[in-house]
Amino acid sequence: MLTKNLKIFAVVIGTLATFTILANLIPQGTATDVGFGAVAGTPGPATASLDPLEIMRANTCLVCHLFNGEGIQMGPPLDRIGARVDADYIRQSILNPAAGASEGFEELTTMMPLTFGDQLTSGQLEILVEFLAGQR
Ligand code: HEC
Repeated sequence: MLTKNLKIFAVVIGTLATFTILANLIPQGTATDVGFGAVAGTPGPATASLDPLEIMRANTCLVCHLFNGEGIQMGPPLDRIGARVDADYIRQSILNPAAGASEGFEELTTMMPLTFGDQLTSGQLEILVEFLAGQR
């Protein structure tokens, strides 16, 4: 009877150990950069697309901004943004959103993720800035 219990115990421990070892073999992403929509453990561009709308969709801009009827209005709408502010301001707003508050949205300055400098390639950033500055 005792040996039977010991056998069961050994099987249970063996099974647990096997699964623990297997689980540890699965690569664990480092959970940094968990911005809105950013995928944990995958720093780098959210998309390879060079299409401004695709870049905005993939980078979750439209989770907080309204553009051309798409998205949600939490931050300032991006329609006609080029008529209000210039390209430098737009670039700064994307790279360093905490630096300056948009008029009327001062309470929300901490909302916008600080990770777009990593998530956008420099090419994508310029495409986006030029595209938005051109919205008049
Ligand atoms: C989690 C919500 C959120 C996401 C995601 C987000 N933004 Fe914002 N954004 C805001 C808020 C809130 C403000 C206004 C407060 C501020 O200036 O920080 C803002 C401000 C801005 C401004 C300045 C607008 C103005 O009129 O002053 C621009 C430009 C902008 N965002 C572009 C983008 C782009 C492009 C993306 C995607 C790459 C993006 N945002 C993603 C919330 C967000």
